[in-house]
Amino acid sequence: MPHDPKILDHEYDGIQEFDNPTPGWWHFLFFLFLVFGVFYSVVSIAGSPYLPSPETKHKRASIAATLKKFASLGDLEPTADEIAYYAQDDEWMAYASSVFAANCASCHEADGGGKVGPNLTDEFGKNVRTIEDIHTVIANGANAGAMPAWSERFHPNDVILLSSYVASLRGTTPFSGAPAEGEQMEPWPEPAPRPETGDDAAEGGG
Ligand code: HEC
Repeated sequence: MPHDPKILDHEYDGIQEFDNPTPGWWHFLFFLFLVFGVFYSVVSIAGSPYLPSPETKHKRASIAATLKKFASLGDLEPTADEIAYYAQDDEWMAYASSVFAANCASCHEADGGGKVGPNLTDEFGKNVRTIEDIHTVIANGANAGAMPAWSERFHPNDVILLSSYVASLRGTTPFSGAPAEGEQMEPWPEPAPRPETGDDAAEGGG
């Protein structure tokens, strides 16, 4: 024995007890878990730049789910009815609003109130009179590229969903709206009712 263990001064039925120190491996594990516990608390409360937060995970999962559903849209047509129909679809408008925030907000503001580009929330359009004009401007651009053309950069369905999103901004109240430009636009059409059978209802092959 390298150390001289102390014998405790109690004895039961002839059994005596050494006062051994707690072994080194026990201390090692104790402090290892202590440090891990502190580290884990900090990461789970404050979050870590190296780990996605629960919000980020949720966002990623729902975008992934939406992209999976993208296939179920089939090929949308840039008709007044289709644009007006998706403008009322909360789920697809949530998706389109993230595309808008990433690509259009720099010039139009995230709420469409306008900055470099015109206010998209008011009753007036510079290039837009009808709901289909929105699609034409987004796809082809306007004013010699001051408004860029997006048909080469996006899937055609994206351009249509963006058009629906812009249509849905009309009548909303932006944080700070740019002054109206252009002329009074026509009211958007009411979309034709469709059967409520979910995503795979493709009535009329449409
Ligand atoms: C680089 C700045 C810029 C970006 C980015 C941009 N726009 Fe524009 N947008 C403009 C400008 C400038 C105009 C006005 C063009 C004109 O003077 O005729 C415009 C016009 C429009 C119009 C027509 C408005 C009207 O009243 O005629 C729509 C709709 C529109 N943009 C949607 C979008 C969408 C959707 C995106 C993103 C995919 C986008 N814009 C990205 C600058 C931009």
